[in-house]
Amino acid sequence: MADTCAILLAAGKGERFGSPAGKLWTPIAGKPVLLWAIERFHSHPEVDHIVLVGQGAELPRLQDIASRFSKITAVVKGGRERWESVRLGLDAVPEGDRWVLVHDAARAAVSADLISRVLQATRQTGAAIPALRVADTLKWVDEDDMVRATLPRERRQDGQRWRTMAVQTPQGFAVDILREAYVRFDHLQNIPTDDAMLVEGFHPVTVVPGDPQNIKLTYPEDLAQMERILTGGGEVRTGFGYDVHPFAEGRRLMLGGVQVPSPRGLAGHSDADVVLHAITDALLGAAGLDDIGTLFPSTDPAYRDADSVELMCLAWERVRQQGWLVVNVDVTVLAETPRLRPYVSAMRERIADALQIQPDRVNIKATTSERMGFIGREEGIACYAVATLRR
Ligand code: CTP
Ligand code: MG
Repeated sequence: MADTCAILLAAGKGERFGSPAGKLWTPIAGKPVLLWAIERFHSHPEVDHIVLVGQGAELPRLQDIASRFSKITAVVKGGRERWESVRLGLDAVPEGDRWVLVHDAARAAVSADLISRVLQATRQTGAAIPALRVADTLKWVDEDDMVRATLPRERRQDGQRWRTMAVQTPQGFAVDILREAYVRFDHLQNIPTDDAMLVEGFHPVTVVPGDPQNIKLTYPEDLAQMERILTGGGEVRTGFGYDVHPFAEGRRLMLGGVQVPSPRGLAGHSDADVVLHAITDALLGAAGLDDIGTLFPSTDPAYRDADSVELMCLAWERVRQQGWLVVNVDVTVLAETPRLRPYVSAMRERIADALQIQPDRVNIKATTSERMGFIGREEGIACYAVATLRR
């Protein structure tokens, strides 16, 4: 019987993360953080419905995503504070649902086991949250980085030893209990920092073991860890690519997907972007696939003047379908002229965007050939690339 709804909170500003695009839209292995989170709940057999709470400006984009997931029954606009977003999400929980899981979409690595664990305790007790023991000592520190006080990690109370714990989401509740919490809640008194805070005053809240992997993407430095958790260890492989094209009059010079001002371009069947061709071969090579010339033969009129960004994307799609992620791409361009330094960062952005990775995973260097050989005689441009992949 369908009776369980997850409220996925994605209406925050991600201020501490500090990316203008927003932390939940940051791609990890080519997929936005938000999608990772949605998929975790959508694929869970005990979750029947999902309510997605987002910022007003992002609702069209979220609706678009929602249309691809049958369990998403509503996309609603969130509020200024997290608790307001929860309340607005709660209003959209389908009638008849008895259990609700409130989850930070920024905890995109939530496991199926953790969802099950919280749900089981919620069904038994009406309210359950996951929490981890705190190993560190917690202190109050002022704005001048001075210690003001130490929080006791344990305390004796009611003949027991109480301990501080760090709580996570999803937090599970009987829908009626969480609704009642919002009726009782006076937001002028205290701003709740989690959902259980609103419930624990009138209904017991059970704690189940949290999951150390269930981290919240909060600061930029959390991204690498989130990526490790989401993509796992896995096999690592490196591929190598090389390409060279002669200069030709009357053509644009395309390098790394960027048009570089130059009196001459490079001759070739496609747009002759040696940088992208070398990268494409490195990616294909790492995956053990056929090279670019075999995939896109220069005898095929379909690839005449082809945009090499598109060719690279087509090749990358084949590699990606075999489960590979880009660890990094490193490139050296050999060109006596023109000077490429001013265009390197645009190339990095363009390539990273095409491969759906962060620009810091793409490195591009340019060097002359000290006037020696065919590069030195300005007959053409060559490029070396290595790509490291993981799956
Ligand atoms: N959230 C929300 N509505 C709000 C505030 C937060 O839906 N008004 C969501 C966030 O999108 C996030 C989760 O609640 O998934 C936890 O909040 P937090 O990690 O603090 O994210 P942000 O508020 O986006 O980040 P910051 O506090 O750094 O701005
Ligand atoms: Mg916040």
